[in-house]
Amino acid sequence: MSRKKIAIIGGGQIGGVLTQLIAQKQLGDVVLFDIVEDLPQGKTLDIAEAARVDGYDIKISGTNSYKDIAGADLVIITAGLPRKPGMSRDDLLVTNAKIMKSVAEAVKEKAPNSIVIIISNPLDAMVTLFKNVSGFPANRVMGQAGVLDSSRFATFISWELGVSVKDINALVLGGHGDTMVPVIRYANVNGIPVMELLERKYNDKAKAKEVINAMVERTKMAGGEVVKLLKTGSAFYSPASSAIQMAQSILYDEKRLLSTCAYLNGEFGVTGYYVGVPAILGANGVEKVVEFSLNEEEQALMNNSVDAIKKLVEDMQRLGL
Ligand code: APR
Repeated sequence: MSRKKIAIIGGGQIGGVLTQLIAQKQLGDVVLFDIVEDLPQGKTLDIAEAARVDGYDIKISGTNSYKDIAGADLVIITAGLPRKPGMSRDDLLVTNAKIMKSVAEAVKEKAPNSIVIIISNPLDAMVTLFKNVSGFPANRVMGQAGVLDSSRFATFISWELGVSVKDINALVLGGHGDTMVPVIRYANVNGIPVMELLERKYNDKAKAKEVINAMVERTKMAGGEVVKLLKTGSAFYSPASSAIQMAQSILYDEKRLLSTCAYLNGEFGVTGYYVGVPAILGANGVEKVVEFSLNEEEQALMNNSVDAIKKLVEDMQRLGL
């Protein structure tokens, strides 16, 4: 059986960690592309030279030429500028849309049958743009946001309750921006509702609500919290790990149900937009968007988030991007 070919577009902070993780997990052969001369070659040489130590045995190469991504099975896109302190993801729209357009044209030409995971921000708009430019079917174009946002929410719950993060299930829906929707009602620790555990911990319903609301707010702002601390650049370890979980589900046909920025065709009452929703990821990419019931309050939050996505996409179209 031949190994899968994985192309990573954008060899910056996230691209580098992605390459290392793919190597360590031996998910496939990697080609790392960047427009900066020598950067992807340098990173991949460095990672290849750790193969003897880490015990991986795959092909890893860096390139400035799109011809080297030819025939890739999976493409992960990180090309684009990251945020600086004080910026929102949406502030990256104009710059990153131009980059994404060129990337989409190249991927369409060189890797027309690939499945694509996008990480570049503003995520929901970048995924939409890639799909429109490439003309790829919706199941083969998705964005990474929800796995990370859900992981951030789970991390804060774990710290609050003093329970291993491995036992926490937390789901974040909606756009990858300030309107994202961490779903409190379904957050649980091995099946036990988080709210019940918080109410028991504080023996006070109002205090429990205050604590969960603070965790929801921290989740929504978690990317910005990292940007503020790093001062240059944004989070890169956790976005890379999150995209790898999606990539692995696709490459190994695992059928994981992961929060994914997926194209909606009537699900959750939305048609024609990319939104963060639970989806089954397998060999065919996004194999199914999984719907579940939201109560009135959750649906209102979801609608608000979908409105923000629509506005972002409209802004992009109005600017002719
Ligand atoms: N084609 C390919 N790569 C490009 C292009 C292009 N047209 N333009 C820029 N790049 C490359 C840059 O040269 C850089 O190496 O994209 C890389 C981006 O890397 P970083 O600046 O380190 O950014 P990173 O932290 O990896 O984040 C990338 O993901 O999470 C989002 O908001 C983040 O949009 C940002 C993206």
